[in-house]
Amino acid sequence: MSSKLHLISIAPMLGYTDRHFRYFMRLITQHTFLYTEMIAAQALLHQNFLKFLNFNEIEHPIALQLAGNNPTILAQAAKRVEQHGYDEINFNVGCPSPRVQSGQFGCCLLENPLLVSDCFKAMQDAVTIPVTIKTRLGLIANVEDETTQSNMGESRLVSTKFQPITAFIEMLSEAGCKTFILHARFADLIHYTPRQNRTLPPLHDKKIYQLKNAFPHLEMVFNGGIKTEQDIDEKLKTNIDGVMIGQAAYHNPYFLIHADEKYYQDTHAKLDREQIVEKYLIYMEQETKKGSNKKYILRHLPNLFRGIPLAKQIRNMIVSTALL
Ligand SMILES: Cc1cc2nc3c(=O)[nH]c(=O)nc-3n(C[C@H](O)[C@H](O)[C@H](O)COP(=O)(O)O)c2cc1C
Repeated sequence: MSSKLHLISIAPMLGYTDRHFRYFMRLITQHTFLYTEMIAAQALLHQNFLKFLNFNEIEHPIALQLAGNNPTILAQAAKRVEQHGYDEINFNVGCPSPRVQSGQFGCCLLENPLLVSDCFKAMQDAVTIPVTIKTRLGLIANVEDETTQSNMGESRLVSTKFQPITAFIEMLSEAGCKTFILHARFADLIHYTPRQNRTLPPLHDKKIYQLKNAFPHLEMVFNGGIKTEQDIDEKLKTNIDGVMIGQAAYHNPYFLIHADEKYYQDTHAKLDREQIVEKYLIYMEQETKKGSNKKYILRHLPNLFRGIPLAKQIRNMIVSTALL
């Protein structure tokens, strides 16, 4: 079921993967699949919805990630996403932020696979582009009842409402979902803040491989903890169909400079860091003429120099010169 499209992708990251970052990534890699930040479906039905949808043509292939829990609203939003030219809609069933929890969407939806299924079907019926799902291995929440019952004090218990991920995938597969992006962690709403939930719950790589074995007909993309080219290679030697890279792609984007050649057999000329800076500053000039704030564009640039000698000095020099 491996389609090259999802072989390597850059994760949706709120506050990070805005359109400027995605343009910047395209100067490093032309083939990896890009995701927008999570966007509430409701926001796409407001008057100023275009500000959430606009992207540059060079960002293809690109998916927009939607969050929500109302099938009708999600379907309407999905139509706008398709009309705007996106290649895929990704449904967020994994985000553990408090805003998402109070709205009963994101990872909280893992407790309600029937609703997820309805949301998925509503979106997929409304559009012809694929709708994919990004989720986690499960949810650890609502522990109080069980703790009282079992008198186990501080020990960690899985929610009474916990739905095994296999049942979730089975139900969503029956609803027609063919591609699952699986963050190899549980969302632990009891012990961790949203930020901690990105890194502290342990990774369960094997569970993802087991899931792929259980559902060989479904496309499964591994997400979580990938930091180097070696990590990518190790994962791609297993049975999974692709990898999604989050924090490492943001904080050290240049590590993906060989991705097009190595994973997509495209030997186009690679840009060195200096050429990337030049092209990105030209982009910045064009964008600021259209009203964008330089600071929002420039903030992604310093990470280009991560790990090289004099990185800090180079970064400071470029940013201060560009801001003049
Ligand atoms: C700053 C930040 C924002 C994130 N925002 C989103 C989001 O909008 N939607 C989503 O599905 N996941 C979000 N995530 C989770 C990532 O997509 C990814 O699943 C997680 O970081 C694990 O992958 P990594 O170890 O490669 O970073 C976010 C993560 C970070 C660090």
